[in-house]
Amino acid sequence: MKFERKNFLWGGATSASQIEGAYNLNGKSLTLAEMRPFNPNLNRKSIEEINNYSKKEYEKSIENVNKLHYPKRYGIDFYHKYKEDIALFKEAGMKIFRMSISWSRIYPNGDENKPNQEGIEFYRKVFEECKKSGMEIMLTIQHYDIPYSIAKNYNGWSNKKVIDLYIKFAATIMEEYKDLVKYWLPFNEINVATLSPITGLGIFREDYKTEYEFLNASYQGLHNQFFAQAKVIELSKNISKNIKMGCMIANITTYASDCNPINILENLLTQQMNRYFYYDVVAKGIYPTYSKRYFRERKIEINITEEELKVIKENTVDYITFSYYMTSTVSKSNQDNNSGNLIIGGKNKFLNATEWGWQIDPIGLRITLNELWDRYQLPLFISENGIGVVEKLDANNTVNDNYRIDYLKEHFIQINEAILDGVDVFGYTMWTPIDVVSLSTNEMSKRYGLIYVDYDDYHNGNGKRYKKKSFSWFKKFIETNEF
Ligand code: BG6
Repeated sequence: MKFERKNFLWGGATSASQIEGAYNLNGKSLTLAEMRPFNPNLNRKSIEEINNYSKKEYEKSIENVNKLHYPKRYGIDFYHKYKEDIALFKEAGMKIFRMSISWSRIYPNGDENKPNQEGIEFYRKVFEECKKSGMEIMLTIQHYDIPYSIAKNYNGWSNKKVIDLYIKFAATIMEEYKDLVKYWLPFNEINVATLSPITGLGIFREDYKTEYEFLNASYQGLHNQFFAQAKVIELSKNISKNIKMGCMIANITTYASDCNPINILENLLTQQMNRYFYYDVVAKGIYPTYSKRYFRERKIEINITEEELKVIKENTVDYITFSYYMTSTVSKSNQDNNSGNLIIGGKNKFLNATEWGWQIDPIGLRITLNELWDRYQLPLFISENGIGVVEKLDANNTVNDNYRIDYLKEHFIQINEAILDGVDVFGYTMWTPIDVVSLSTNEMSKRYGLIYVDYDDYHNGNGKRYKKKSFSWFKKFIETNEF
């Protein structure tokens, strides 16, 4: 069986704070991501891991008075090993590399007048290396690594002043890299603003008196990001025709737990506010009517100006990208839940789950692609999908990761089916081509890569890269287009 679409952009995705390391080199400032430690007693099935770290603990981590280990300060040392890694990506046959740029390397405090030239030069070298290797780049402008200075001095994204700081940062890098980078995503998983406000917006629960105030601030922060994204799209039109602007949304496809209309309705309402709302704003340029009822009934008051709505309306995305890891179920009554990294949902007895409780659902990807295509009629791109597993090198210095090959193959087959359905899907970047530090649990032992990296949860190891069995499978698939 062959994959149907020619010139499909197959590749891999990463983010700066999960790979780079070099957290304090060449003018870079500290980010919130680098201030959360590894927790040896973590509960892998709890999404609280990422949210349950207090403002005080973040503050203490600056001096590391607790003597804890902060994995995202070290990543996999891509900062120094990028040439070797890009060579491996090329060897695997990747046509596109999705990565992000760290704001804290370019404007360490956010409000400097001039960018940090050492940061600018680092990314230029990485992009040039990708170009030399024949790979396109998909660049995320902000992927969960908000500079601490912006959280501390501005209270993160709930403050409208941060919009201008971000636009200055985005304008600088678009000018610098317009000839090197074609695909741009202003925010990673923009909907995480409301799912995990500390991660998506850099706002602390402790700064708000009540849960209600915190919720309100997270929707304000989300709106500020919607507007900032639209502004960046507007600006990009004057910077270069080469720039293609998309969005990135954590796609949360859910099914009703059964055919009881009460549960079907509950699932519809969940899909509206957990999923379609975000696509509607960035792809249709409107706040949908159902969201207005949702805000009214919860007394959520967002400061939105007419001018901001106009910019959002006039600057929608050229294409849609989304992450797809799992699906779950929804019911009106209490139900048995499964896990995820940023949201939990109901169990589905027809699906298997990973050790972290993520339910694997390749057919759900075909359903999702069809739904999004019907609804938005915009080119689609799967910007994250993959499986995290605890792995060890065997005696032959490899990992026999047949489960990953099956996972990828099953999802690729469903992408192919969606293409046969007529869906315009033009690329896929797996999470991840190489092992990285986990976003939610900060583990190194949760491995997603085609390439094994010899570091453990405490960054012990020699950092060497080893090809897993899936590396050869992927390479062959790219060469032959055969499943
Ligand atoms: C996505 C994020 O939500 O999930 C990535 O964009 C993240 O940054 C990925 O790494 C997998 O999650 P985790 O927690 O297993 O690393």
